Amino acid sequence: METFDAIVLGAGGAGLMAAAVAGQRGRRVVVLDHAEAPGKKILISGGGRCNFTNLHTAPDRYLSANPHFAKSALGRYTARDFLDMVERHGIAWHEKTLGQLFCDGSARAIVDMLLGECELGGATIRLGQPLGEIGHADGRFTVRHGDRGYTAPALVIATGGPSIPKMGATGVAYDIARRFGLKVVEPRPALVPLTLPGDEALFRALSGVATPVVARAGKAAFAEAALFTHRGLSGPAILQASSYWRHGEAVAIDFRPDASAGWLTSAKRARPRATLAQTLDLPARLAEVLAERLGVGELGATTDRALADAERRLSDWRFHPDGTEGCAKAEVTVGGIATDALSSKTMEARKVPGFYAVGEAVDVTGWLGGYNFQWAWASGWAAGQAI
Ligand code: FDA
Repeated sequence: METFDAIVLGAGGAGLMAAAVAGQRGRRVVVLDHAEAPGKKILISGGGRCNFTNLHTAPDRYLSANPHFAKSALGRYTARDFLDMVERHGIAWHEKTLGQLFCDGSARAIVDMLLGECELGGATIRLGQPLGEIGHADGRFTVRHGDRGYTAPALVIATGGPSIPKMGATGVAYDIARRFGLKVVEPRPALVPLTLPGDEALFRALSGVATPVVARAGKAAFAEAALFTHRGLSGPAILQASSYWRHGEAVAIDFRPDASAGWLTSAKRARPRATLAQTLDLPARLAEVLAERLGVGELGATTDRALADAERRLSDWRFHPDGTEGCAKAEVTVGGIATDALSSKTMEARKVPGFYAVGEAVDVTGWLGGYNFQWAWASGWAAGQAI
């Protein structure tokens, strides 16, 4: 049995950050993972360039049963703090859009940076072995990893959520949390494409067509691109809305978010011979499908009332997804280890001293665009400061 000050389960963004910070504070830390390599999700993120943070990080861009929980960690370890580390390591970066910061080169630089910070803190990283039994007695945790055993007074759960299982993602964090008496907010796939039922087949035939929209689900609205796929709907606006969408609910799409009221009747006066499909400033195939669904042809042959109705429907088009593409395609998981049992300052379970949970394993889920990594860094940092 090897003895440490802290055992971190999971060598992803949150676990490596926690290990680096605690190590640099003089703690002896071991990080255990079943994957052969650390930071696999970092490597594939942002199309291989890692959208590592967002300049507009704010607690209201996160979903959680307790919307206040993320405030402390996000406030104490900010996007600017992470950017300082990126710049200290000489990693070139750029803002793509909407405050999203990406590496100019490969995401590998972010993994190497975190590994460098872990090395600076003397953290030990052990990979490629299955996690075995986890014990807890007399204020110490014991963990089996392959044929080795580890013991420490602190255990940090940083094994993420179950999205993309083929990359080694599992829901083990939830099993461990439950064993220690913590609750789990029901996990569901998020930032995920939505599937449309058979009666929406007309739209599935538009596979590959994208257009800027405002997509609404629940009380959330996102002005970005939507993409039709052979299974349903995707694109950033839909991925964002998917985190708020619940089975049985509609997703409302405004296909003409910039149009002013009465634009169709004005178009009729200006060009009565034009058809609705020709008038819609949308990709041609999409415009045809929408016009067909609305049953509107030549504007001049359509009553003002019918045009007003078409205008209303185009700005509030209701899709009724029958599901999502599931964990296999989801970027993250909404839900996870319930925050009510954790300290928002340290990520430690109040009733199990020494037990911490960080990153995606916790019921805090960010918007698309670097927010989820910022949560991984901030929560990992908070735990690293405390252990
Ligand atoms: P993460 O999942 O990164 O790490 C968990 C670690 O635990 C892994 O190393 C895993 O092997 C290990 N583990 C899991 N189960 C285990 C078990 N049973 N035994 C042992 N080890 C186990 N976010 C963002 O902000 N910007 C972006 O650009 C992207 N892009 C992106 C693309 C794709 C395709 C995906 C799937 C996700 C993203 N994300 C993202 C989301 C982001 O990747 C995610 O929020 C963070 O990686 C979460 O970090 P964690 O450290 O919490 O978990």
